[in-house]
Amino acid sequence: MTTPQKIALVTGSHKGLGYAIARKLAQQAGIQVIVTSRKEQDGFTAQQRLATEGIQVDFHPLDVTNDSSVQQVTAWAQKTYGKVDILINNAGVNPTMQAEEASLLTMQLETMLSTLATNVAAVARITQAVLPLMQAQNYGRIVNVSTEMASLATIGSDYYPLAPSYRLSKIGLNGLTVLLAKELQGTNILVNAYSPGWMKTDMGGSDAPFTADEGAETAVYLATLPEHGAQGKFFAEMRKFGGPIALTW
Ligand SMILES: NC(=O)c1ccc[n+]([C@@H]2O[C@H](COP(=O)([O-])OP(=O)(O)OC[C@H]3O[C@@H](n4cnc5c(N)ncnc54)[C@H](OP(=O)(O)O)[C@@H]3O)[C@@H](O)[C@H]2O)c1
Repeated sequence: MTTPQKIALVTGSHKGLGYAIARKLAQQAGIQVIVTSRKEQDGFTAQQRLATEGIQVDFHPLDVTNDSSVQQVTAWAQKTYGKVDILINNAGVNPTMQAEEASLLTMQLETMLSTLATNVAAVARITQAVLPLMQAQNYGRIVNVSTEMASLATIGSDYYPLAPSYRLSKIGLNGLTVLLAKELQGTNILVNAYSPGWMKTDMGGSDAPFTADEGAETAVYLATLPEHGAQGKFFAEMRKFGGPIALTW
């Protein structure tokens, strides 16, 4: 008997962590991945790059901050596959390198708002669009890519830069994860957040100790949780601890 195919949509997946997650998921048996990117050419290039490794993925353009783009990708997925089983909310921005982000007193409100728009509101937008497809089949796995910089339990003592816009956005994303998990109690739709660790990507820079491939491990674990698996939890990168470890919010 063949395992029914799961459909996985990964936001912001033409490069960096999103690409690594898409690649790893596509290597799992029975998962069809939809790579998405803002620029169509970026997505096609990623699709071709994966094809050179023998990895076949589908592609659709997606800007998570744009309502019609989100509606279009959801309608297309429904028409093409009849469902979405896995949603990886990976797309994100991080303005921490801007000098004003060293302090709450100098942080530009426009920067904070645009960071919240991509890292929190856009996750709410695509979740609202995709969730009905999951509810129709009572199956879904939603993975929100956060950061340990958003752990309120450690924020007072950690060694990271203040990074107010980025941190506030990911704290918001963590809150969204808990609220959604509460709404999804008793269903087979599981939503969790995780921190991939500091990775060598355009966002993380070349000094980062780990690769996007390593950061992708926990996403694959959460995307393939069995029924009654973790719900509304915050996980660390598995590579650091050798297995799934829950972080404090
Ligand atoms: N790198 C790290 O050390 C680190 C650590 C902790 C958490 N994270 C999180 O991991 C995730 C991926 O980061 P990364 O390191 O892979 O960064 P990255 O290389 O800069 O990639 C970010 C991705 O998000 C996409 N994106 C941004 N705004 C978008 C929008 N409006 N619509 C659709 N896609 C959009 C980008 O597309 P474009 O190319 O079109 O801009 C790109 O594909 C982010 O959520 C980040 O906060 C990263």
